[in-house]
Amino acid sequence: MSATPTKKPVTVVDLQRMREQGKPITMLTAYDYPTAKLADQAGIPILLVGDSLGMVVLGYDSTVPVTVDDMIHHGKAVVRGAGHAHVVVDMPFGSYQGGWQEALRNATRIMQETGCGSVKLEGGERSAETVRHLVEAGIPVMGHIGLTPQSVNAFGGFRVQGKTPREAVHLIQDAKALAEAGAYAIVLELVPTALAHMITQRVSVPTIGIGAGPFCSGQVQVVHDLLGIYEGQPKHARRFAEIGQATQQAMIEYREAVETAAFPTAAESFYMDEHALELIRSMTPSAEQDMSEAERVLRDLEDAPTRSE
Ligand code: KIV
Repeated sequence: MSATPTKKPVTVVDLQRMREQGKPITMLTAYDYPTAKLADQAGIPILLVGDSLGMVVLGYDSTVPVTVDDMIHHGKAVVRGAGHAHVVVDMPFGSYQGGWQEALRNATRIMQETGCGSVKLEGGERSAETVRHLVEAGIPVMGHIGLTPQSVNAFGGFRVQGKTPREAVHLIQDAKALAEAGAYAIVLELVPTALAHMITQRVSVPTIGIGAGPFCSGQVQVVHDLLGIYEGQPKHARRFAEIGQATQQAMIEYREAVETAAFPTAAESFYMDEHALELIRSMTPSAEQDMSEAERVLRDLEDAPTRSE
């Protein structure tokens, strides 16, 4: 296994080229600097600062409480870690539903303050006008349809979308509306494989699936699911590592080492000059208490001839 050296940042044009060449696109969430750096060096071309951070990092029950400030805070950290990857930042609940003017204000803030490459927002036809205005203003937008977590309360839970003919037709129309409005890619979340395949064939931009089967132009996963850090495992996720277990084992060993005085060892500690130590030891407790008294005693002691002189 090798890490890809840092190259020029991936752009939305590169992603479209990958789609045309039939090269599957990998997207992964990242919410902090070290994860972004590792993913970037692993050659992941798109890092999503997803509002899923509300659940997997901040411990909320849903993505609804996440704010624009939260997204900017985490987006900045990810951009600092990503040398090559394209960074897309989610627009959180309430930051674009109030009309395209509000969406433009918030998207502009996210782009300017994080330095990210694009933003993502949820919704198909209902969000198309907003997408069009952002794209016209020069902001690349990724769409997101199917199960859109910000509307989980309206869906009545995290369930697969588009299973009935009516829902399926709506999803196809949603995807087309986003592509026509200028979205450069579309996330398909919890969509039956055959429907995701049809949508991928019918739109001219990359589709990025999560729980949408193997026929999308690319795949996205939540990094905590991939690494086995977050409790529970969605059916569509595969654990490529058990970092949660490994982390907890390391913490247990650390606690045991502290409790048995096995940590830190001499090699893990720092030492000071013996002469300086003697000076401090020779000070009275009252001189230690009073800064000006301590200064005077130290001056006298430093002026006195030392044993080696
Ligand atoms: O917030 C997120 O992590 C997402 C992915 C599930 C696509 O939107």
